[in-house]
Amino acid sequence: MSGLRALVTGGAGFIGSHVAELLIADGYAVTILDNLSSGRNDNIPAAATFVLGDVTTPDAGTLIREGQFDVITHLAAQIDVRRSVADPIADATINVLGTLRVVEAVRASGRATRVVFASTGGALYGDFATPPNAETVPKDPESPYGIAKLSAEYYLTYAARLHGVDTVALRFANVYGPRQDPHGEAGVVAIFCGRVLDGRAVTIFGDGRQTRDYVFVTDVARANVAAARAKLPPPGRLDARAFNVGTGIETSVTALAAALGTATRRPVPVEHAPARPGEQLRSSVTIDKASAVLGWQPRTGLAEGLAKTYSWFAERRAPGAAH
Ligand SMILES: NC(=O)c1ccc[n+]([C@@H]2O[C@H](COP(=O)([O-])OP(=O)(O)OC[C@H]3O[C@@H](n4cnc5c(N)ncnc54)[C@H](O)[C@@H]3O)[C@@H](O)[C@H]2O)c1
Repeated sequence: MSGLRALVTGGAGFIGSHVAELLIADGYAVTILDNLSSGRNDNIPAAATFVLGDVTTPDAGTLIREGQFDVITHLAAQIDVRRSVADPIADATINVLGTLRVVEAVRASGRATRVVFASTGGALYGDFATPPNAETVPKDPESPYGIAKLSAEYYLTYAARLHGVDTVALRFANVYGPRQDPHGEAGVVAIFCGRVLDGRAVTIFGDGRQTRDYVFVTDVARANVAAARAKLPPPGRLDARAFNVGTGIETSVTALAAALGTATRRPVPVEHAPARPGEQLRSSVTIDKASAVLGWQPRTGLAEGLAKTYSWFAERRAPGAAH
């Protein structure tokens, strides 16, 4: 044990549980705060202390003020872009006010806790900029989800400048890997793996040429641990302490289905459905800044990541599997 203490909000979720595991392996004493709205008990590492609670509440503020944390990786969020369109107030309550709750509690604690915020690369830059997008391109979020993440980043920037709160934003591209929810709207890789295991065709909306930047969850967890410890530039404008976390590689959804077939040596039949209105056409992010400042680069290529993800879903389905 290093004596360092970490709080992982959303640590029962897909990415948060991987972050918690790596922080524990790195010697941190880890507390997880999660309301289990989409997270699962069985994602929580045995070595973590679990607090069932909502990040938007005063109780969360008390936990943060009194917890003597060296780092907070704040991943608790409403992650469904379509839900944010259907109910932007609910989205902003969690994604803006929940983040502000964390930042305000750290400010009130007077402690030099670093706040590592899970932002988005995919939903921040919009379709006007041509990928791969650097951190500094003009932001043009197209959904309440993206607007909320950008708003939260502005609060982080303000708190850093005015109150000296030690904040950093990681703008994740499209994260995939074990434990992603195959039933949600997000997570095309998880959805595709579920379909292949069911022996069903995968659905491609529109012409299949829409691109995303797929980054493996273990690599994203490593970026969080790197951001927890890195020497960072002084607070400045919005992008000063923001880092894209992706691969810089655009993969079309048609190519993704083909790559899944190759990686798993399974047939991946495709069915086509009408394009979804408002769907972003292209997305990928540059990672030079994360490489230079955080010393971080992705290590898992798409073929390896898809094979690992598919194996995890397959094992989970196996007779006698734990869950
Ligand atoms: N998955 C991606 O591709 C991706 C891309 C960009 C950014 N992100 C961000 O990464 C973070 C983690 O996403 P994920 O994919 O692991 O999603 P997830 O749904 O698996 O994890 C979110 C976790 O937060 C918890 N949670 C939700 N609302 C809460 C609240 N009010 N109080 C306490 N806990 C709450 C959920 O129970 C869940 O465990 C989110 O902030 C998300 O916006 C994800």
